[in-house]
Amino acid sequence: MKTRVLMVCLGNICRSPIAEGILRDRVQKEGLDIETDSAGTSSFHVGEKPDSRMRAAALKNGIDISDLRARQFVVSDFDEFDIIYAMDRSNYNNIMALARNAEDEAKVRMILNESNPGMNYEVPDPYYGGDQGFQDVIDMLNDAMDVVIQKING
Ligand code: 4NP
Repeated sequence: MKTRVLMVCLGNICRSPIAEGILRDRVQKEGLDIETDSAGTSSFHVGEKPDSRMRAAALKNGIDISDLRARQFVVSDFDEFDIIYAMDRSNYNNIMALARNAEDEAKVRMILNESNPGMNYEVPDPYYGGDQGFQDVIDMLNDAMDVVIQKING
């Protein structure tokens, strides 16, 4: 059965698009039965491409996310997805505030808890930092995605 995975950050232009891109790339290469998407809790950047710095960093890692466009998280995403990954605590709290019931709440996880169980580490927002911040985000998401895929594949 197809597993539907949604990546969520604040703007949907830096962290969650690259999380989606990394997972999508592996789904394509490994032929996995996983549907991928991403969204932002805010409406600030709706309709925009991923940040140019993140697009460039992604390409250096062999991943093209230039086709993605930002959208805002909506309550119906709880119906459309099986797992909802938040990039940081604030994203997590914002998503949980929209949950309608315990079933919705159970779908929401901090993504770095996959690679670092129980630590509640956050994917740092690279938006206001230097170029290394973008590669750091890619590195930590690559590690997390190994476990994401392992768990889904059983
Ligand atoms: P993201 O990064 O949540 O990783 O997409 C951000 C991008 C833009 C803003 C905040 C975070 N912003 O406030 O414009």
